[in-house]
Amino acid sequence: MRIGIVAWDHEDPDSPELARTGRDLGHDTSVFFLGDVSCDLTAGAVGTTIGGEPATAFDLIISRAQIRYEQAQSDHERYGLLCQVPGVTVLDPADVYLNAESKLLALQRLGAAGLPIAPTRCCRNPADVAAALADWGEVVVKPSFGLGGADVERVRNLGHDSALVEGLLKKYERLVCQPYYPHPDGDLRVTVVGDEAPLNMRRVPRSTGWKSNAKQGATVHMVTPPPELVEVSTRAARVMGVTMAGLDFLPTPDGHKIIEFNNCPGWYPAPEDHRRHLTERVIEIMVGIHEAGHRVNGRAPEPRPVG
Ligand SMILES: Nc1ncnc2c1ncn2[C@@H]1O[C@H](COP(=O)(O)OP(=O)(O)OP(=O)(O)O)[C@@H](O)[C@H]1O
Ligand SMILES: [Mg+2]
Repeated sequence: MRIGIVAWDHEDPDSPELARTGRDLGHDTSVFFLGDVSCDLTAGAVGTTIGGEPATAFDLIISRAQIRYEQAQSDHERYGLLCQVPGVTVLDPADVYLNAESKLLALQRLGAAGLPIAPTRCCRNPADVAAALADWGEVVVKPSFGLGGADVERVRNLGHDSALVEGLLKKYERLVCQPYYPHPDGDLRVTVVGDEAPLNMRRVPRSTGWKSNAKQGATVHMVTPPPELVEVSTRAARVMGVTMAGLDFLPTPDGHKIIEFNNCPGWYPAPEDHRRHLTERVIEIMVGIHEAGHRVNGRAPEPRPVG
């Protein structure tokens, strides 16, 4: 099978590793970027190309695409072009992937489905943050489209932190706001693929920090999560329609709560044998989805509408 993997960026170590596993499992697997996607409608009705080659040459495209905050429209366009190619399975389709980009939208959907999300508000001005502080004590504010822990900030007191809050509101217009849940012993990251959870980590913030992102210096320990959190995680992925997801849980006085849903989970901090197990299951499960689509229809699946 011909598999394409849309990598996050040139520094993403996980996409080339996934491609290596794909090749080891006997598939012709290559990595490309959304920037490689183009369209030439003079030659035919579909016309989508990947690095100059017709996209119809691929069977399965696995997306780890980065939708850049400043270029969301052109990234959406390229992603949408990929999803209109008959016979090519894109996991996940544009509407599914793009909806899962927003922290606020994902948490809203998961909460509506009855899953245990952390209390979450959208703050449009300093008064909204003041109200959250009055209700929750210390809070965390962050952009709805953030990554790597950047611009995720603790706010204790609006008198002291007003410049910080105003700066973030100016940059992002709205902020996601949650109670602050200390987690010196780490968060829990459950990585879901299909109905399985092949990789589970506790990510412990560095001693002088409080964020559990690897990019913020956290260390990783492999764990076996409680079965109920695996069940919540696979349900969350189903609710979002996402094939591969990273669910982040924090301990709270009311038990573990989902603080974030990731549509492009990373795994590079995990030990090699765990990474290998995960990447094998990603390829096997996604190839299975592609083949099932072809079996059900007896022909190429219809391209899904782009939303
Ligand atoms: N409500 C919270 N209470 C305590 N810590 C939090 C809270 N929200 C986030 N954090 C800490 O900050 C880190 C980064 O926050 P979050 O996961 O929401 O954004 P991100 O990691 O930047 O986004 P992405 O995972 O898409 O890259 C979390 O891993 C967690 O350690
Ligand atoms: Mg995160």
